[in-house]
Amino acid sequence: PFEVELTDTGTTVTVPPDRTILEVVEEHGVRVLSSCRAGVCGTCETRVVEGEIEHRDAILNEEEKHLGDSMMICVSRAAAGCRKLTLDL
Ligand code: FES
Repeated sequence: PFEVELTDTGTTVTVPPDRTILEVVEEHGVRVLSSCRAGVCGTCETRVVEGEIEHRDAILNEEEKHLGDSMMICVSRAAAGCRKLTLDL
């Protein structure tokens, strides 16, 4: 599991291995636009304030992935060894 801090409310939520960030933040009442939920449309792109990302989408190119300032929260996760992501949500 890893934690996600939401900058709008300062809330921190825990994302277990079998759930996506998108699912967990929605469950906490955060409204995020989404469509494919499979990392292929780009709708759920979210700005990353802090933390290392394991990108699993098919939208960002290598350069964008390396920059690490946004992620598709329907599929991508915290990198191994990163225990917390701070997202602009
Ligand atoms: Fe399509 Fe996340 S909802 S990339």
